[in-house]
Amino acid sequence: MSSRALFVVVCGAPLASRLSDGVRVVREWGWTPYVIPTDAAMPWLVEQDLGDVPVIVGNRKPHEPRRTPAADAVVVVPATFHTLNAWATGNAYSYPLTTLCAALGAGTPTVAVPYVSRELTGHPAWASSLAVLGRAGVRVLDPGSGSVASVEPLQPGTGSHVVVGFRWEWVLKQLELRE
Ligand SMILES: Cc1cc2nc3c(=O)[nH]c(=O)nc-3n(C[C@H](O)[C@H](O)[C@H](O)COP(=O)(O)O)c2cc1C
Repeated sequence: MSSRALFVVVCGAPLASRLSDGVRVVREWGWTPYVIPTDAAMPWLVEQDLGDVPVIVGNRKPHEPRRTPAADAVVVVPATFHTLNAWATGNAYSYPLTTLCAALGAGTPTVAVPYVSRELTGHPAWASSLAVLGRAGVRVLDPGSGSVASVEPLQPGTGSHVVVGFRWEWVLKQLELRE
């Protein structure tokens, strides 16, 4: 059980502040976490104690060995507007995006938790990106309710409430349902 590798991609939005809770829960559920942050996520990571969890930053150099085993599953928490749209269009210009695009191509079980304001989700790219990812098998989970039936935009003034109420167990449960 404990050898199951879970890649935890983290983007630059306030829900990234719950990452330390996430790696604890991930381990409790029998996964081995590998954290893969975007550059924009880094300010949220420096404030947290992740213990001995590997944090994989940027691309490895051509002659360096691989830094992780193959992923048994991938989660992206939070998924920003930027990363979710880039992922859906096959944009792989950063290590986190390459990781996400490869997971989609390989059919690796993947859960995405968008954390995006109402203004941004009104952009026409948003709905089509969600549709692309959903058709490809990604489970897209609402950060406020844990539902995978529909993802609601963050309402103004509710962000801190959503961050506190978010439960990493919702994400892990979706992975168990996939197995
Ligand atoms: C304080 C702060 C809060 C942010 N909150 C969000 C957010 O809730 N959702 C979002 O999609 N982007 C948010 N952004 C913008 C993203 O960080 C920005 O679009 C960044 O380019 C995303 O890069 P990434 O997708 O590679 O992490 C926030 C930025 C800052 C500085």
